[in-house]
Amino acid sequence: MKHLLFIVIFAPALFAVDLSGIWVSSSKQPDGHTDREVLVLKQTGNQLAGRVERAWGNLDIQQGTVDGNHFTITAKTTDGYSITCEGVLEESKLHVKVHEPHGTPFEMIAVHSDTDPFMLTSVIPPPALRDLPPNGLAKTPPMGWNSWNLFAGRIDDKTVRQMADAIVSSGMRDAGYIYLNIDDTWEGDRDANGVIHSNNKFPDMKALADYVHSKGLKFGIYSSPGPYTCAGYEGSYGHETQDARTYAEWGIDYLKYDWCSAARLYPNSAMRGVYQKMADELRATNRPIVYSLCQYGRDDVWTWGDKAGGNLWRTTGDIKDTYKRMMEIVDTQSQIAKYAGPGHWNDPDMLEIGNGGMSTDEYRTHMSLWAIFAAPLLAGNDVRGMTDDTRSILLNKEVIAVDQDPAGAEGHRADKSGDIEYYARRLNDGDMALVVVNRSDDSTTVKIPWIEMNVPVGSKVRDLWKHEDFPAGENQTFTIPAHGSLMFRMNATQIFGQTKTPR
Ligand code: GLA
Repeated sequence: MKHLLFIVIFAPALFAVDLSGIWVSSSKQPDGHTDREVLVLKQTGNQLAGRVERAWGNLDIQQGTVDGNHFTITAKTTDGYSITCEGVLEESKLHVKVHEPHGTPFEMIAVHSDTDPFMLTSVIPPPALRDLPPNGLAKTPPMGWNSWNLFAGRIDDKTVRQMADAIVSSGMRDAGYIYLNIDDTWEGDRDANGVIHSNNKFPDMKALADYVHSKGLKFGIYSSPGPYTCAGYEGSYGHETQDARTYAEWGIDYLKYDWCSAARLYPNSAMRGVYQKMADELRATNRPIVYSLCQYGRDDVWTWGDKAGGNLWRTTGDIKDTYKRMMEIVDTQSQIAKYAGPGHWNDPDMLEIGNGGMSTDEYRTHMSLWAIFAAPLLAGNDVRGMTDDTRSILLNKEVIAVDQDPAGAEGHRADKSGDIEYYARRLNDGDMALVVVNRSDDSTTVKIPWIEMNVPVGSKVRDLWKHEDFPAGENQTFTIPAHGSLMFRMNATQIFGQTKTPR
């Protein structure tokens, strides 16, 4: 991302330097947005303390030394993300080379500053809390596609257009995947009037929205209530009214609003008001815009997300394309199932199906459980070239029908026995959807407790992955591959002998 000239001067300094102070690097990137990095340093002798600041948070300096005009720093977040910086002070500028755990090192030039662009001295107070009425949108969990999981910062106009074409030609649109959502990194800078512009990866947002709409799709975008997004792009702080109007003018139908740098300004207890503020601005445009709260499940958002105007709220930190992370998220969902319903959904994050980090059996488990949890189904893969397996998972209409069940009652883990777990969801027509997951690393044979569920022997059970009916049998056994699952739909009057408490 950084293309600045890095000059290391190895000549010993004639005098000791003092690097104490705030150092700000502000550089225009190739995509047209301005990237900022801040070093807050305190030098004692040849030791450096302080922090490296990024838009999304701080890294505390663990070790820092100065040698002549040369310095090295190791800095770490509270959850262990660690970087090293090395550089020199030359003509009052810090020339810094930053090594991240992944990717190529980048270079930056920081200048001394009296103020820290990430630390605002006066903060706009959030509005008084009200209970917002439903906006009438997202009667079933939103379905669509989002750019982040696969493309992150590499998303651009051309890719979005190709994705729109592929969502139609693959049959995904007709299966219900209607929202095409651009995540972080579309933002450019603001003009003199404070109006946000897209960066040069997106030359004309209105034209792009028109294209997406012409395909029978809806168009989503992303911002933050803080001054910066998680990737360090422009956020909506102090510009909520303007941004909501700009989105409406462009033809935006969905906003994901990501807490990120708002954490520097507000305590968690202010979140509800901050989210309510943007909800009010979106509603004031009179354009129906689905409102997605992204604050990683902090402050029990499920208890107030709908009152703040949210149609969905993230319940966890970010998903990764691994079975381990996907199941960590699963383990936190059952207890909060009761908070979801038509118009307001728990969001365990976007789908990783088709991105390559899990087996086909694991991706089937991912899809099955997201359907049980009435989760938004936002695909995150390259729809332009799906394998048959990926296609068969994302386009399984019987599983999608469970996710989109009009009653909107979220299911939960109803029972478990060793590595075998049972997830159940009551459906609108009185049927029950059941997912049986094998969490062990080996394939396992199970006997489904039909009797306990009041499914009479001989009654019809639908296998939602095999797309066939079979009669329930008393000593019937099923083999489930490692990390795989079964998904059934049948008329069952109770879940495991009335045990309806989430486990
Ligand atoms: C956060 C969100 C992700 C994604 C990125 C973009 O990490 O949780 O879903 O939007 O920001 O920077």
